Amino acid sequence: MAERKSSIMGLIFQKKSLFCLFSVTSILFMLSWLFVLRLDHKFLRPMLSSTIVDGNSASQIQTHGKPLITSDRVIHEEELEGQRKDNLVTCNPNNMVLKVFMYDLPAEFHFELLDWKSEGKGVWPDIRNEVPHYPGGLNLQHSIDYWLTLDLLSSEFTETTNARSAVRVHNSSEADVIFVPFFSSLSYNRHSRVAQNQKRSTDQLLQEKLVKYVTSQDEWKRSAGKDHIVLAHHPNSLLYARWKLWPATYILSDFGRYPTNIANIDKDVIAPYKHVVKTFVNDSSGFDGRPTLLYFQGAIYRKDGGFIRQELFYLLKEEKDVHFAFGSVQKNGIRNATLGMRSSKFCLNIAGDTPSSNRLFDAIASHCVPVVISDEIELPYEDVLDYSKFCVFVRTSDALKDKFLVNLIRGIGREEWTRMWQRLKKVENLFEYQYPSKEGDAVQMIWQAVARKAPTMRMKAHRSKRFSHYDTREDGELRSVPLPRNLAE
Ligand SMILES: *[C@@H]1O[C@H](CO)[C@@H](O)[C@H](O)[C@H]1NC(C)=O
Ligand SMILES: *[C@@H]1O[C@H](CO)[C@@H](O)[C@H](O)[C@H]1NC(C)=O
Ligand SMILES: *[C@@H]1O[C@H](CO)[C@@H](O)[C@H](O)[C@H]1NC(C)=O
Repeated sequence: MAERKSSIMGLIFQKKSLFCLFSVTSILFMLSWLFVLRLDHKFLRPMLSSTIVDGNSASQIQTHGKPLITSDRVIHEEELEGQRKDNLVTCNPNNMVLKVFMYDLPAEFHFELLDWKSEGKGVWPDIRNEVPHYPGGLNLQHSIDYWLTLDLLSSEFTETTNARSAVRVHNSSEADVIFVPFFSSLSYNRHSRVAQNQKRSTDQLLQEKLVKYVTSQDEWKRSAGKDHIVLAHHPNSLLYARWKLWPATYILSDFGRYPTNIANIDKDVIAPYKHVVKTFVNDSSGFDGRPTLLYFQGAIYRKDGGFIRQELFYLLKEEKDVHFAFGSVQKNGIRNATLGMRSSKFCLNIAGDTPSSNRLFDAIASHCVPVVISDEIELPYEDVLDYSKFCVFVRTSDALKDKFLVNLIRGIGREEWTRMWQRLKKVENLFEYQYPSKEGDAVQMIWQAVARKAPTMRMKAHRSKRFSHYDTREDGELRSVPLPRNLAE
């Protein structure tokens, strides 16, 4: 299974430039061949249409009653063509590796938050000897900063292979982007409470220190921060610094708690949560192996999300094959949720107090077709990934109509469901965080998403320099947005 998966992902990513070249030359070759034969050879017509025309090639072949295409090469070509349409490959022959300069921030901003202690002067652990452990449990769902930083550190001593999408460079003039390795989600999770003898939380103090550090660096001044990458995956992380560091590109879970001038889909990158239920390895369940039609397990929220959940509960509670229960998926509940998702065809993802949650990624890891009811949700790498192939999206206003949801779901038959289930098994790797990172996993996908933003970031950085020759103002001057009233002191 793992081998097969990696060979599929290999086809998608590693060989993509080769593959693009191969497809293009093969199609050109066939076209020229057909041209020579003046397109009137009766054996060739179906071949032309089946290879180049989208869709109903199979029926065309069948109408001729016998296998017209005997050449292995053509069939192979067709399969590849199908794979390409099926998967997320866009031709990118120069397969760029992103060059990343990482600030050597004091360890209190990163690995010390993991209780790692630096020995001597170094701020980074030597991960060839020891990889600091990340605290488990629900903290893990926002651990993106940890995996990205480990990947950058490891880029210095492992060979740059096709699997690697980013490398650390030490000369910031040569970098595409500047990475700020503050483990902001962990800082929020561990230190956001104001201790008795404190005026401000340790998390806030760290953020203030971070802003001071980063904005005084030459790299920040050079670009006014426009080529910087700052992590804030937990919706409440970076609560103060976000108002100062916003010229940077943020890596976020959604925009629920951000005004659009601070964060938006054009500027920023959406990263998946790390799923908390285990990946369903060797899943051979299929349509009949999943008796529950629709599964939902989650908390009730008092805000808007709570209203929708409550309404849906009343709409669905009479359906026998629907599991709809309140109570959060935590601790020993994870085991229960794992079993529940693995034995369900569809898994509901309803907006909570933020538009996104790790439940979507738990559903993907369980190969339970996600049904997303969250109008404001933003999805990772949606510029290269078509979620409609393995998720069902329902507008909130539709979902609240009587019978709408359940009729929609029951209307998805065995064949269509199976296609989505198989698709989930193919894409699950794109949402997997791991160290060492592997080709096409979440770490590499996030770097690639950053790489697709890099040209725009560079352009903005250049624009910010326009008047630098005579402007007496520091070019990288901090143009902060005023703190909202509830945060101002
Ligand atoms: C950094 O790179 C720039 C541009 O390539 C070069 O001019 C400069 O000398 C380099 N600095 C160091 C310290 O190597
Ligand atoms: C999955 O299947 C492979 C090959 O059949 C086997 O080696 C592996 O142990 C299985 N893994 C699990 C978790 O069942
Ligand atoms: C899982 O939860 C459901 C309801 O929430 C409960 O009926 C069931 O007994 C639980 N199963 C296990 C294995 O804990």
